[in-house]
Amino acid sequence: MRLDIITIFPDYFAPLGVSLIGKAMQRGDITVEVHDLRSWTHDPHRTVDDTPFGGGPGMVMRPEPWGEALDAIVGIAGRRARPAGDAGPAGRPQLVVPTPAGALFDQAAAAELAAFEHLIFACGRYEGIDARVADYARTLMPVRELSIGDYVLAGGEPAVLVMAEAICRLLPGVLGNADSAHDDSFGAGVGPMHGLVEGPAYTRPRTWRGLAVPDVLLSGNHAAIARWRRDEALRRTARTRPDLAARLAGSGMSARDRHVLSEAGFAVSGDDVAH
Ligand code: 6GU
Repeated sequence: MRLDIITIFPDYFAPLGVSLIGKAMQRGDITVEVHDLRSWTHDPHRTVDDTPFGGGPGMVMRPEPWGEALDAIVGIAGRRARPAGDAGPAGRPQLVVPTPAGALFDQAAAAELAAFEHLIFACGRYEGIDARVADYARTLMPVRELSIGDYVLAGGEPAVLVMAEAICRLLPGVLGNADSAHDDSFGAGVGPMHGLVEGPAYTRPRTWRGLAVPDVLLSGNHAAIARWRRDEALRRTARTRPDLAARLAGSGMSARDRHVLSEAGFAVSGDDVAH
């Protein structure tokens, strides 16, 4: 996979060189190019922003450097030799524009983006990028405006670090433990994809500062362990994510699941879940 990141703060992406993505870069599984937007300016001050038409606070990023940057990066991608038959979503670049006004970046979005061979991230600052840039980009490639949550960051850079990690850990061979990503969705039947958060995990020692590991985890009874983990995931989801718990309706819950949820304060009738 190739990632092109356009930003006015290239140094922000130094962390990509460490940990999981850094190792995949060393192996050649992932190529990351960070581009300074100012290299596509032509004035002495390398200006990338201006005051908003219509007035109001803050500054808006001017479209011209963005247009040149996208043309250059898409042009480079277009000249790269591609195996025949590699058209379709995987062979085309996809532009991701991080913005608090975007659709929510969740695990499903991460999985969809992991299917692309080439992602381009356009990091906006100030009050955003002139809206014509996204309109123009749509003439070149698919564009997704994405937010990482309901809070406001000063720029898209930290959001791109978050998205890049969530996407790249799904690529084959990127995780050290081949089962870890799989477990997100299937392991004990818990994880974001199944609408539950994970329950607690424990390791040695069996007793630490007077605190013991739950007996069932030491029992060797794999069915009992799987059941306990699911119960804990249901309880924790009810406690910390009532929004997710309320959406469990119709997701094939067993009588035991419904019992655990009702003990946690969720009235469950048939496949309906209410707080
Ligand atoms: Cl993607 N950008 C900014 N600036 N703020 C955000 C965000 C993105 N996602 C949540 N808040």
